[in-house]
Amino acid sequence: MLLTDEEKRMLEGQCGKGVMKAMELLVALGKAFDAERLIPVTRTHVALSGQEGDTYWCGLLADGGARCTVIPTTNPAWDVASLTKRYDVTAEELDLALRTVDVYRRIGAALTFCCTPGLGTNVPAFGEHVAFSESSATPYVNSILGARTNRESSVSALAAAVVGKTPLYGLHLDENRRGQFLVRVEAPLGEPYDWGLLGWYVGRFAGSRVPVLHMPHVGSRPSPESLLYLGAELNTSGAVPMYHIVGITPEAQTLEKAFGGSVPEAECVVTKRDLREQEDAVSEKGGRINLVMLGCPHYTYAQIREVERLMKGRHVRDGVAFWILTSYDALELASRSGERERLAELGVDLVADTCIDEPCWKSFEGGLGVTDSPKCAYYRERRGQPFVIRRLSGCVEAAVCGEAL
Ligand code: F3S
Repeated sequence: MLLTDEEKRMLEGQCGKGVMKAMELLVALGKAFDAERLIPVTRTHVALSGQEGDTYWCGLLADGGARCTVIPTTNPAWDVASLTKRYDVTAEELDLALRTVDVYRRIGAALTFCCTPGLGTNVPAFGEHVAFSESSATPYVNSILGARTNRESSVSALAAAVVGKTPLYGLHLDENRRGQFLVRVEAPLGEPYDWGLLGWYVGRFAGSRVPVLHMPHVGSRPSPESLLYLGAELNTSGAVPMYHIVGITPEAQTLEKAFGGSVPEAECVVTKRDLREQEDAVSEKGGRINLVMLGCPHYTYAQIREVERLMKGRHVRDGVAFWILTSYDALELASRSGERERLAELGVDLVADTCIDEPCWKSFEGGLGVTDSPKCAYYRERRGQPFVIRRLSGCVEAAVCGEAL
């Protein structure tokens, strides 16, 4: 790899041990992907997970004197103040959560604790080179905003935030942003849930290729929430940090542009029946539930309002917890505007800063949950709680009845 004199000084440790470690990682990554050189990034987002490995890496850099030069926003861990009062966590789990906050403060991150930065707190513009981790954020950044990021890990995104650069490879290059296979979508798509199912379905066979979705029957522009759900699921059942929707995403105004003049490797059709069968395959059968979990990715203020509308003033069934995970700014808006208090009276709790994949939720393991997100179900099932997956109205009815149909 070609390195500038300044980059060589960083690699030799002349700018401190923390910067040296970050540079070592970026150079190793660049060599692994045959990158010619490093390029500057203007934004970063770090998917800190509240897990020991990520926290160790951040501590290693911070203890070595590194500070972020491109301030990263951060993914959620969990709201220690409110959830520790409600649920059992071990001293070790709590200690890790507090250490995570401490090291990311010390390295100079912006502690947004939100997995939807592209909707508000960290929004790249078209063509901007950035380093974002988080499986729901990277497809949104590449596909909808037209900025350029690879599918970074929390480790590589933090290194980029410290050095201010990333290796030039992958989705930073035009030739890797072209569509590779064509998906003709015949299934009707309405609310975000439908888009999430489509994403899960296509992601299963996409691998890491760039799909081009052709859906002329979808007349109006999908909501940001729908596009976020699509990307989150594509990048969970598959490893898809970029997709195109013909006529909608900025680099795919026509089918020809989406493929950049090349021929699709393959083509498939997705029907209504395919998505119904996908739902059956990915969801548990119904039954009595102990948890409704929404907000993976974090719910927007509009989605919180939709939950209140669907509740119709009814109370959540005794023995069922109903949590909506959201961003700190949507929570603030819901507090100011009254939804938070009104929903709390019905038994629906809002919480910011928190991911579904955290130890604070283990109190519900052994029971059945319901969610509108296959990604949530996927992660929670690995932890020992099966989930029924239903559209939002079905989740709300399950909360009120205490049973998912
Ligand atoms: Fe967000 Fe955690 Fe889901 S980061 S997308 S709530 S797995």
